[in-house]
Amino acid sequence: MAFIIDGKKISTQIKDELKERVSLLHKNGIQITLAVIQVGNDPASSVYVQNKKKACEYIGINSLSYELPETTTQEELLSLVNKLNTDATVNGILVQLPLPKHIDEDTVIQNILPAKDVDGFHPQNVGALSIGQKGFISCTPAGVIELLKRSGIEIEGKECVVLGRSNIVGKPMALLMLRENATVTICHSRTKNLIDTAKRADILIVAIGKQNFVTKDFVKEGAVVIDVGMHRNENNKLCGDIDYNDVYEKVSAITPVPGGVGPMTIAMLMNNCVESAELSK
Ligand code: GUN
Repeated sequence: MAFIIDGKKISTQIKDELKERVSLLHKNGIQITLAVIQVGNDPASSVYVQNKKKACEYIGINSLSYELPETTTQEELLSLVNKLNTDATVNGILVQLPLPKHIDEDTVIQNILPAKDVDGFHPQNVGALSIGQKGFISCTPAGVIELLKRSGIEIEGKECVVLGRSNIVGKPMALLMLRENATVTICHSRTKNLIDTAKRADILIVAIGKQNFVTKDFVKEGAVVIDVGMHRNENNKLCGDIDYNDVYEKVSAITPVPGGVGPMTIAMLMNNCVESAELSK
């Protein structure tokens, strides 16, 4: 029987802890503000943005919402980012991805002040993580580390295999597991012997964006499996990259979808906003 890692419960604990830190800042006359920018009206992005605003409200963070039309030019977006960079009342800037095709995401991310880059996507923050220096850490992988730690799952010395090498999840995830002293392997679409490699994992973290891709053939008996994927199946039900029912009997712990990694991303975003305000005071 697998232990189900309850991301909803753990994310609520984190948000409640943050609420206390925010209340302390308020008592010292410090307000926290997160600026959220969405370009266009992609429905999935709108849901994420709404959830981020709701979390801000719960914790006591002000959110400034910029809902820009799909036709916004890169120059217009950069001009807003620059305005927010110089606004001393703004602690965090989040540009919801993906952006429309005519806007270069890398350019936009590089224009966010690293000290306000609460997503942890700016090259300076990514670089800091890679050499063990302080900086904002991408929220989803940071959330996975919190899930493991708060579930009492030891990382040090463990074989960790990360499936996926995206800039937002796979790469920072591998760096964070390395920082926690795991032995880390990254697998991707060109990996040979994917199943054999995945089967070595004590902790298998899956972020490849393919529905129910990982079956029991990929997992070692007693492994911990973390599912970063999020899809809607043919019955309109949410599911992940891991075939939950197939692996359940074989693993020692598993994150469900929904209610696993998902809620942690927002909790860690809130954490980065609070840290940003604490650092700037
Ligand atoms: N789109 C999907 N996930 C994210 C995220 O964590 N941050 C931003 N800015 N956009 C996203």
